[in-house]
Amino acid sequence: MTHTNLLIANETLSAWINEIRELCQPSGIYVCNGSDEEYRELCDQMVSSGMMIRLNPELRPNSFLCRSDPTDVARLEHRTFICCEREEDAGPTNNWADPSKMRAELKELFRGAMRGRTLYVIPFSMGQPGSAYAMYGVQLTDSPYVVANMKLMAHIGEPVLPYLDQAQVVRCLHSVGKPLQPGETDSTWPCNADKKYIVNFQDDHSIVSFGSGYGGNALLGKKCLALRTASTIARTEGWLAEHMLILGVESPNGDTTYVAGAFPSACGKTNFAMLVPPEGFDGWKVKTVGDDIAWIRPGDDGRLWAVNPEIGFFGVAPGTNAKTNPNMMAAVKSDTIFTNCALTADGDIWWEGLTDVAPNNLIDWQGNPWTSDSGRLAAHPNARFTVTAANCPSMDPARDDGQAVPISAFIFGGRLSHTFPLVYEARNWEEGVYWAATLGSEATAAAENQAAIRNDPFAMLPFCGYNMGDYFTHWLSLAGRLSETPGIFRVNWFRKDEVGRFVWPGFSQNMRVLRWIVGRVKNEAGGRETPLGVMPSYSDIDWNGLPFSEEKFAVLGRIDGEKLSRELVSHQAYLSTFQPRLPERLLQIGDILQRSAQT
Ligand code: PEP
Ligand code: NA
Ligand code: MN
Repeated sequence: MTHTNLLIANETLSAWINEIRELCQPSGIYVCNGSDEEYRELCDQMVSSGMMIRLNPELRPNSFLCRSDPTDVARLEHRTFICCEREEDAGPTNNWADPSKMRAELKELFRGAMRGRTLYVIPFSMGQPGSAYAMYGVQLTDSPYVVANMKLMAHIGEPVLPYLDQAQVVRCLHSVGKPLQPGETDSTWPCNADKKYIVNFQDDHSIVSFGSGYGGNALLGKKCLALRTASTIARTEGWLAEHMLILGVESPNGDTTYVAGAFPSACGKTNFAMLVPPEGFDGWKVKTVGDDIAWIRPGDDGRLWAVNPEIGFFGVAPGTNAKTNPNMMAAVKSDTIFTNCALTADGDIWWEGLTDVAPNNLIDWQGNPWTSDSGRLAAHPNARFTVTAANCPSMDPARDDGQAVPISAFIFGGRLSHTFPLVYEARNWEEGVYWAATLGSEATAAAENQAAIRNDPFAMLPFCGYNMGDYFTHWLSLAGRLSETPGIFRVNWFRKDEVGRFVWPGFSQNMRVLRWIVGRVKNEAGGRETPLGVMPSYSDIDWNGLPFSEEKFAVLGRIDGEKLSRELVSHQAYLSTFQPRLPERLLQIGDILQRSAQT
């Protein structure tokens, strides 16, 4: 690859880059310009080195498969650290480490860590460069896979350079942590088997990641910057950085209502962001703004306005198919990087759930021959695709120029087989914050009706960069800065009947719930008061195109006062783990709800 002459004009940044170069001892340095040509050259290079397999261009044009090391397949929450002066500021849900000790430890790990590799310099912007929402960063990395993925997920290179003299440029340092000895042949997924660190320093907002090449650990603009760093900054500046999808619902008369939604993993968040309305919803359209991250600010009009700071998707492949997510299937038809999927005999990819029957003679995600009676999975359960949002047919044109959209409702959902109804609207902002703070989801493998619930407040458990108790306070206080608070809704697609069957068909049929939510915020849809909040009666839902009995609908809305009461008791115990930073108001709301559950 030819060397570029792009200069990082910012002197402090170039001094930092030189310092890292001296510390890490790479064999060369390359400043990324972010062009399509550069992307092509990098991919060609990775194909030659064996890190990427070019897929059959007739079946999957301009697409590649990567196989990671089997020990480097997911985010590592136990190796993720928040470094700030006082441990209590990181809170009970984060791993805390002393910043100066961590800096000293990392310095030794990075000494010589890039020997035999190229140091790539990636100037990047989360959010449209030049827009009021943008945050700028420079990632230094020795992974060409990271460069290629960053190109699909964020604005990188030349378009970002004019903004690098801003006061706040987040310094992101990453190494796979596997220096090469002279003459040593590289593996196709270098990483460090023993030492992995993903670290946010909240004093100067810098980010350091060592030892892993996997998405959430290595694409530092995503979870590390756009959530852990940004949430910390957002708290002091009065806005929100959330683990949320954003979508617009366009009605037949042409107006669009935007909602943001948070779901813990394995609840179908990406599918929901790209929902295709079912039969009976002619003229309705769902427009995708984002599937993972929302930056939300109060506007001069007293409403909340949101952008998705990413320009691509890094999504879970297994389970994605023409029924669950036709828009994503269209997006990944070409120009996609697949990681840990299976390879077909004709050079295409496959994963569990893509088709009912697996093709013959696959190569599994670890590179071994696979047939349907191999007794193991062909794709890793966390196999991923990386693809630019421009490929996705449901994208909202509003996001092309980085425009923010007004948020009319927040939707929080978990996977809960009992107690929680299909949908309800919180009675007010404070109760909505309570329902988001007590969000949880069942471990999918858990026993019927005994399902263990993993608490995941606001689906932010692994991503809140500071004390979660302070985060609840921040959410509560936001209402005072708005002229009109969005409605807050809880949804649950996973309610089961007495014999353990899912009652709600889900997927595209979730449009019926979405339509009710939109109707509520427009003061057009009815509902009935319940101990939880306002729920739709059978006649409040549009059933056009779906035969669904009133009896079945009643199962979805049934509230067992005793179960609910026990649930609320367990909420109080969970919330108390955030003492002394827990806003007292949440416990009071728990008491109010307990009284209404018992009447
Ligand atoms: C990731 O691991 O990089 C990621 C996007 O995580 P998740 O899908 O859990 O949000
Ligand atoms: Na993950
Ligand atoms: Mn996510």
